[in-house]
Amino acid sequence: MTVAITWLSHAAFLIESSKGRVLIDPFLSNNPKASLKLQDLPPVDMILVTHGHGDHVGDTIALATRDNALVVASVEVVNWLRNHGVKRLHGQQAGGAFEHPAGRVKLTPAFHGSSLPDGSYGGQPVGMLLTVEGVTVYHAGDTSLFGDMALIGDEGVDLALLPIGDNFTMGPEDALKAADLIGPKMVIPMHYGTWPVIDVDQERFRGPAAGKPWRVSIPTPGEKIRLN
Ligand code: NI
Ligand code: MN
Repeated sequence: MTVAITWLSHAAFLIESSKGRVLIDPFLSNNPKASLKLQDLPPVDMILVTHGHGDHVGDTIALATRDNALVVASVEVVNWLRNHGVKRLHGQQAGGAFEHPAGRVKLTPAFHGSSLPDGSYGGQPVGMLLTVEGVTVYHAGDTSLFGDMALIGDEGVDLALLPIGDNFTMGPEDALKAADLIGPKMVIPMHYGTWPVIDVDQERFRGPAAGKPWRVSIPTPGEKIRLN
């Protein structure tokens, strides 16, 4: 069956397969670069939230409520969402994997912060490895470069979603090193251009990537890419 991914801008992605629709870090409202409005998004089955920051929790509460979707995040983020009325929740922590109906999710470490929009403690930020229908996608979350990304690559990553916006996360040069450590088939850069502070030129990533054993895809927000 076909697995397809759509970049919705920033760190927000929609992954569709015969197992269901999975949203990662659904930041659409108040996102100046969002390609879709909330009401234009089809019903989703599972929402993955990498950490508590507003540009990642985004519209999780509204969408989880609208679609009765399962939300997977750190135990701390899950507890906060429960207090905000979200019903279907599943807490995991870095290193832990679980087979959900819409795909297998393994949480990975990420080096960043994770306070929630009201200042509550959000635990450790994470990245997400989603495996569905034989395709593994690594969403790095917001993170710096770290050497153990090579171990994440050992999981067999088909597609790596890597931040390149600098300032809050890796910039393009560190993201190039990250991709070399992970060794995916394809990289989609993310978390750049949303606001002036992370408005880096994507060519700083795409240019030096020419000749690498992995390829770069830079979709326009809303463009769907087939992964198998
Ligand atoms: Ni963040
Ligand atoms: Mn962020």
